[in-house]
Amino acid sequence: MTIDLSSKVVAVTGASSGIGEATALACAQAGAAVALAARRADRIEALAKRIADAGGRAIAIPTDVGDESQARVFVERTHAELGRLDVLVNNAGVMLLGPIENAPTEEWRRMIEANVFGVLYCTHAALGLMREQGSGHIVNVSSVAGRVARAGSGVYNLTKFGVGAFSESLRQEGVPIGVRVTTIEPGAVATELPGHNRPEVLEQMAKRFAGVTPLSSEDIAGAILYAIGQPPNVSVNEVLVRPSGQGA
Ligand SMILES: NC(=O)c1ccc[n+]([C@@H]2O[C@H](COP(=O)([O-])OP(=O)(O)OC[C@H]3O[C@@H](n4cnc5c(N)ncnc54)[C@H](OP(=O)(O)O)[C@@H]3O)[C@@H](O)[C@H]2O)c1
Repeated sequence: MTIDLSSKVVAVTGASSGIGEATALACAQAGAAVALAARRADRIEALAKRIADAGGRAIAIPTDVGDESQARVFVERTHAELGRLDVLVNNAGVMLLGPIENAPTEEWRRMIEANVFGVLYCTHAALGLMREQGSGHIVNVSSVAGRVARAGSGVYNLTKFGVGAFSESLRQEGVPIGVRVTTIEPGAVATELPGHNRPEVLEQMAKRFAGVTPLSSEDIAGAILYAIGQPPNVSVNEVLVRPSGQGA
């Protein structure tokens, strides 16, 4: 299926690496104008230039999505500068694992700010604009960890289960105003995500995923493109994608 996103505007959070970067590139290649958010300004500015050099249209807006006013500026500038807001991909996130006992509680705050408040603030800013347009699509990147809880993943599970519940509630609110909602639930993907963990956590993760060939960011970008490339009468609610070798 060839997906044509020309005349569409797609805003992607967490576009400085991994799944967000691959999604922004895939959307731009499909013809969309894209707005890129992340805290690392140099990375999103370089990506915007790469897209522009290939003939596409992109703007980079340095943003901490856990900050309500920055999240709002991202969404409103996207709409003002690119003229519409067809799709918001709430992808920015952090995953800091380990048991609850003796956990550095600052890690919990970082996850809840990015994974939960980031999704809420960007969505809050986008909904009114989408209602005015009479259409819109919000894609929330959750995780297999939003479906299956595990020891040592409690707060990450909490944030991603929360994203799943919020998305279903939002989907129902979106129906009467023409806004579709999709939850994307990746299994293991080779990105920078685990790299922010403490060494003892990395050791545990290496054992858990020994022998599993992870997905690429492009595999998940493909799932997101599938969801947003459907005709208006089709609402893809949820896509769960694991690497073939990942059991749980
Ligand atoms: N990789 C996996 O195995 C996997 C599996 C399931 C779900 N996921 C989910 O996929 C999403 C993307 O992760 P990834 O795997 O692509 O990891 P990644 O390469 O580390 O990307 C995470 C992105 O989120 C951004 N980010 C983090 N905190 C932010 C904040 N407060 N404000 C703005 N941007 C922020 C980062 O940019 P800056 O640091 O520049 O701000 C980066 O662009 C996350 O929601 C993650 O939970 C990943």
